[in-house]
Amino acid sequence: MRSVVREMEGYAPGEQPEAGQRVVKLNTNENPYPPSERVMQALAGVSGELLRRYPNPTADLFRDAAAKLHGVTRHHIIAGNGSDDILTIATRCFVPPRGTLAFPDPTYSLYPVLARLEEAKALAVAWGRDWSLPVEALANSSAQAIYLANPNAPSGTFVSPLKVAELAKIFPGLLLVDEAYADFADDNCLPLVQRFGNVVVVRTLSKAYSLAGLRFGYAIAQPAVIAEMMKVKDSYNCDALSIVAATAAIEDQSHARGTWENIKAERTRMTAELTQLGWTVLPSQANFILAAVPSGRGREMYLGLKEQGILVRHFDLPGLQDKIRITIGHSHENNALLAGVKMLTAAGKAA
Ligand SMILES: Cc1ncc(COP(=O)(O)O)c(C=O)c1O
Repeated sequence: MRSVVREMEGYAPGEQPEAGQRVVKLNTNENPYPPSERVMQALAGVSGELLRRYPNPTADLFRDAAAKLHGVTRHHIIAGNGSDDILTIATRCFVPPRGTLAFPDPTYSLYPVLARLEEAKALAVAWGRDWSLPVEALANSSAQAIYLANPNAPSGTFVSPLKVAELAKIFPGLLLVDEAYADFADDNCLPLVQRFGNVVVVRTLSKAYSLAGLRFGYAIAQPAVIAEMMKVKDSYNCDALSIVAATAAIEDQSHARGTWENIKAERTRMTAELTQLGWTVLPSQANFILAAVPSGRGREMYLGLKEQGILVRHFDLPGLQDKIRITIGHSHENNALLAGVKMLTAAGKAA
């Protein structure tokens, strides 16, 4: 066993209920709406012949659809088995052993795990005031790569593309912008790909297209960068079913956009309702909110809600202990959460 593996914690995914268990699941930022009907039709139309053969190794059907959507060529795109696969490919590609991967902290907890697997250092750089991008500290970190989740998880906060461009310009290494939640935001960093050879933008179908179970993500960067990333990926990293389904999903923009609009409206409502109850809610551009419990007892709130069958996420980390992260669900799920919070507050349990 490599000592780096033996000594590491490993990534801890959010809890998934057992099949058939009834819970209000607001803990892993899934989209509460079903995927497009066109996805289900595409899957129903799959032939045995498609499964008998190996899939197209570079998922070109999907790359062409995504290229059309984003106004780039297929050579600007690499597809992966979820965006986690893309993040693994990027880390293997750009972060050398004994090198450094830097990221503003707190953020997506997979990044340090990926760095450790490459026997590289994970350098957590504290966010600036009000979750502003620590441009200087990141640029001067002597890292080979910076990963920026934008909107960030678990804060939901957003860094303007102008600020990201500032960093891309002065940082000599790779700047990966993880846009898992960008479809719920007012803006995104895709245009930076044309301007900067060192920018890789990562997207996923898990949230915006209601396909977390499918496992499909992709990256957009200049063709020279994508060509290098292609060398690093597993030969058939996307299966035939996922290629067909993911393509149908991004071709049905009107379905996906409808879900984004509903989620954004509920995000506004939930922020207002919790603020009314005395909670401090960070302004979110994602499909979740990070909210501070008035009493500061975030873990008790998380446990109290769990007892009522409502799952949210609590992070036992500095700066996050007093908060819970709530995925925006259906309005009836969000109402269940509000009722749960009110009950715990009345009982003097956590709030
Ligand atoms: C910031 C961020 N990036 C990437 C992912 C992984 O998404 P995927 O399902 O595409 O692997 C997540 C999932 O929670 C995330 O929060």
